Amino acid sequence: MKKILKIVSSVNGAQSKSTQLADAVIEKLLAANPGSTVNVKDLAKQHYEHFHEGHLKVYRGMGEVAQEVVAKVEKVSDDTINEVMDADVIVIGVPIYNFNVPSSLKAWIDHVLRAGKTFSYATGQVEGLVKNKKIYLAVSSGAVYSEGPMQAYNFAEPYLKASLGFVGMTDVTTFWAEGCDMPGYKETALQKAIDRVAV
Ligand SMILES: Cc1cc2nc3c(=O)[nH]c(=O)nc-3n(C[C@H](O)[C@H](O)[C@H](O)COP(=O)(O)O)c2cc1C
Repeated sequence: MKKILKIVSSVNGAQSKSTQLADAVIEKLLAANPGSTVNVKDLAKQHYEHFHEGHLKVYRGMGEVAQEVVAKVEKVSDDTINEVMDADVIVIGVPIYNFNVPSSLKAWIDHVLRAGKTFSYATGQVEGLVKNKKIYLAVSSGAVYSEGPMQAYNFAEPYLKASLGFVGMTDVTTFWAEGCDMPGYKETALQKAIDRVAV
């Protein structure tokens, strides 16, 4: 029995290919782990603030910021980190927007990466404090990134692996529906990615 956290970051609702791919991963997880639960976090609906002076105060102790701002930032980040800590498996839907992850997903990550909470330099070397998580990335893109000229533009997956890995989430598996907007690929892109899903 697993506690699954599903992160949606597409703004395309039920039509979203990354969300459909994430759902295919979750379907397999539920079949393999009866009794598992799914906590859905839709970043298109729950907006995280961009990093501001309140975050600097809470994360780094810098600046003078009103106590109510500090309290709000602290609560939102604490709640977000607690959801991550509580999960056994995190399935992240990732549509590629302008060569990277949606800014909503970047903002979520900005609330998860926090010194003393999810990573520490206490020993003199960085230590990720988020242990024992399995991460699945369900990516969809208009273009093809596994081969050809767009290979050099694959910033999203390395960024996600680096930032999640920094806090200890190093066990990452990616499924990718690519060419979703390209004739010759788009007709089968999602189904081919779904067919590759294994958990
Ligand atoms: C604003 C916007 C920017 C996009 N930028 C890119 C891009 O840089 N590279 C790419 O391959 N596809 C890009 N696409 C296409 C999407 O990645 C593709 O349609 C994908 O299937 C969207 O995921 P979704 O179906 O989960 O929403 C973009 C789409 C939108 C709406």
